[in-house]
Amino acid sequence: MAGVDPCGPIIGEPATARLNPRAVDVARYVVDAAIDCAAPVAEARILPALAYNDSDFWEFEKWALFGHEWLFIGHVNQVPNPGDHFKLRILDEPILVVRGKDGDIDVMSAICQHRGHPLFEGLAEPADTSGCLNAKYFVCPYHAWTYNLDGTLHSAPAMRETTPLGKLREEIRLPRIRFEIFHGLIFINFDDAAAPLAPTLEKMDSEIANFGIADLVPTPLVSTGVFDWNWKIYHENSLEPYHTDYVHKDSHNPAPANLSKFYPFSPGDGQVLTTTDFGPDSAELFDSGGQVQLPIIPNLTDEQRGRLLFISVMPVLFLVIEAGSVLVTMSLPRSAEKTELLFFSLFPKEAVAQPEFESVYEEQGKMLQTIVGEDMLTQAALHRGHRSRFSPAGRFSWLEATIPQMNQWLLERYRRALDRLEEANS
Ligand code: FES
Ligand SMILES: [Fe+2]
Repeated sequence: MAGVDPCGPIIGEPATARLNPRAVDVARYVVDAAIDCAAPVAEARILPALAYNDSDFWEFEKWALFGHEWLFIGHVNQVPNPGDHFKLRILDEPILVVRGKDGDIDVMSAICQHRGHPLFEGLAEPADTSGCLNAKYFVCPYHAWTYNLDGTLHSAPAMRETTPLGKLREEIRLPRIRFEIFHGLIFINFDDAAAPLAPTLEKMDSEIANFGIADLVPTPLVSTGVFDWNWKIYHENSLEPYHTDYVHKDSHNPAPANLSKFYPFSPGDGQVLTTTDFGPDSAELFDSGGQVQLPIIPNLTDEQRGRLLFISVMPVLFLVIEAGSVLVTMSLPRSAEKTELLFFSLFPKEAVAQPEFESVYEEQGKMLQTIVGEDMLTQAALHRGHRSRFSPAGRFSWLEATIPQMNQWLLERYRRALDRLEEANS
């Protein structure tokens, strides 16, 4: 089946049927060439350029990572009430996150099981995709097959002559997608045999335990656009403070790079994390032009109030956690060289209840725009640099200790995927 489009889910598919042979060859090459990439920071090297810009390597990653790893899709409070739901497209999969009648979260495919029209696309495309919608049923816009909140079939017009409704109801439901909720953060996995997520996030668990993230209130989801860089460049840049004194010369003073700390990374870890303490200039970060200060997350330690905590749960989630809020960013690749970023923030209920909340949030957004704009330009330039024949097997500063850790996360999973392929072929 060489040449079959390897996009999409791998549910029920033998691995070998989804990947073209060059994708496997490039993956083997990258893994062999990356022998030093996960070494201790003083010896480590950056990943081979092919890992960032080769379209066949991206086909391998789609299968190895997006087909088998835990993918962040949202927060439980994006759907607070029964019937609340939102849709999201993860690569080529339209998915539906819904709060059922029983109050529980469910995640399912948004592909109608009649002839495969996506439930929320075409004529059903909602004008505003940033917030949560509410419904009693989901109706496919093509032939009006109608599904209950739990994904079972409710009705299907003009089917009696071929298949009675009772029989259809026995056969048809929106396919359920496996998910795990970790501190209110929802992750899916298209691989039903994948190991559970939570045991791989023990370090994150202890760092965020008293932030009460499951109870925080999300702002609307916003897309910042599709950018010209590989998704890993976003995580690398967001995790390393080395660049902040240079790229963000004037905008990052409150959290200087030399106040960063790094944490050990153990085999099997699901997260990479780092912190940067606030320095003497940090007052400006919290004083948005003399505006009202919003209530912060209660019960934090002095240490937690005095720093930024950065956590990457690849391939999708990146968190920036501070005492006032949590910035949640989702990196959703479109190709090897294009990535869409979606984001929302989480605030304590007491902050959202303040009459000034909207204006303070807007002001904070404007302050962030400068930093984010500098990162976006830098990441695009770096991505172009990886296309050069002179792209280096570069060494790292101690302030980039998180990148070999990222490489370790990636290489463990690339190797596991190649082993899985070999097993399937033997
Ligand atoms: S494809 Fe959905 S009702 Fe026909
Ligand atoms: Fe940055």
